[in-house]
Amino acid sequence: MKISVIGTGYVGLVTGVCFADLGNDVICMDIDKEKIEKLSKGIPVIYEPGLEELLKRNLKEKRIKFTTSMKETVEDSEIIFIAVGTPPDENGEPDMRAIWNVAKQIAQYINGHKIIINKSTVPVGSAERVYKIIKENLTNNHEFDIISNPEFLREGSAVYDFMNPDRIVIGGSEERAIEKVKELYQPLDAPILITDVKSAELIKYASNAYLATRISFINEIATFCEATGADVELVAKGMGLDKRIGPHFLNAGIGFGGSCFPKDTLGLVTTAKKFGVECSIVKSTIEVNNQQRIKFFEKIYNYFNKELKDKTFGIWGLAFKPDTDDMRESPSIEIINLLLEKGAKVKVFDPAAIENAKKIWKEKIEYTSGMYEVCENSDALIILTEWNEFKQADLKRVHNLLKTPVIFDGRNIFGAKKLRSKGFDYFGIGIKQ
Ligand code: UDX
Repeated sequence: MKISVIGTGYVGLVTGVCFADLGNDVICMDIDKEKIEKLSKGIPVIYEPGLEELLKRNLKEKRIKFTTSMKETVEDSEIIFIAVGTPPDENGEPDMRAIWNVAKQIAQYINGHKIIINKSTVPVGSAERVYKIIKENLTNNHEFDIISNPEFLREGSAVYDFMNPDRIVIGGSEERAIEKVKELYQPLDAPILITDVKSAELIKYASNAYLATRISFINEIATFCEATGADVELVAKGMGLDKRIGPHFLNAGIGFGGSCFPKDTLGLVTTAKKFGVECSIVKSTIEVNNQQRIKFFEKIYNYFNKELKDKTFGIWGLAFKPDTDDMRESPSIEIINLLLEKGAKVKVFDPAAIENAKKIWKEKIEYTSGMYEVCENSDALIILTEWNEFKQADLKRVHNLLKTPVIFDGRNIFGAKKLRSKGFDYFGIGIKQ
């Protein structure tokens, strides 16, 4: 099929490259010229396992091309995906300007029947508005249909998730469009749920908010565990064995970050309010998540008797989760800022996110190129992202390098018993302190 994807962020780029790999002719469009030039040369611009290989292969096979031209994008495709960003505005509401703008532009170039599919995470009712905008700006009588088709891929496993989805949600009202989109997804062999447009829009928000709520829930239980001497890892395991609960998304830690959960939880609360609905559970989810970072910082602060001025901290991990260079809304930002505010020195290492970190802190912190370098003469080691290579660390070496053998583990990557038996002062989340 001839498809196009507008917006080459995580969702747009992965969608375009994967559909090309499934044998479709794909045009990816973005207004960022530099990005388009890089992508045309096979440089993936984001760190995502498997993406570069797929990009290069499909460029070579001429199944994918990149452009800044909206005219070419719309005229040469039958199915058009909108995958532009909807970042939160100052009130926490998704900023929809990019989507409305794209809809207006699409209208100008419609030259035959088009299916316009929204993949961005948007508040309920957005597809209706996109339909209206296109209708109002149309310069001819060509027909078009609107579909809502949310994407559930995770950063760090985006290509895998796209190719192996748990479900595909297609929200629409026109049978001809629904059938066509079903056909497009046929090779993925996943359950397809057909809904109305509004339900599809809400499925995305509700799924993200629910997952975020599970994280805040287990983090709240973790705090309770610390107060009582119970172990949150065992509690989560015991809960997860109940088939109705399941084991996923019950890892206690310093809370969720990233480009989706913080934005979508806030987006759900603010848009629901517009409809007169108070989402108090999701509100609490956000609040617990905000507190989680501060509580972790306070553990460090209190351990050093509220005096961090002449202290140096080595940090392992900056990205909001492993296997990505993304630092958007990463809990590491606030924790490091709190340490800096109290006058501490900070040395960091992350296998992928150092370049992004430099944009945030510039000269304010020290960037190192190895996990052991960070430990040298540091007063404590702080773990903020659970990269696999940290789990394999030579703990004897870490012990020898640190000025004092103290570890604050925000992701519970080491067992407390093991670390304490090796002579560390070890603080995790939701375990006996
Ligand atoms: C999420 C959704 O999973 C995905 O379906 C949606 O399309 C986009 O948002 P992503 O943001 O890439 O994906 O990351 P995810 O793996 O879900 O993790 C989000 C955050 O939650 C991370 O900061 C992670 O560290 C944290 N997390 C996750 C926990 O703290 N505990 C857990 O048990 C799981």
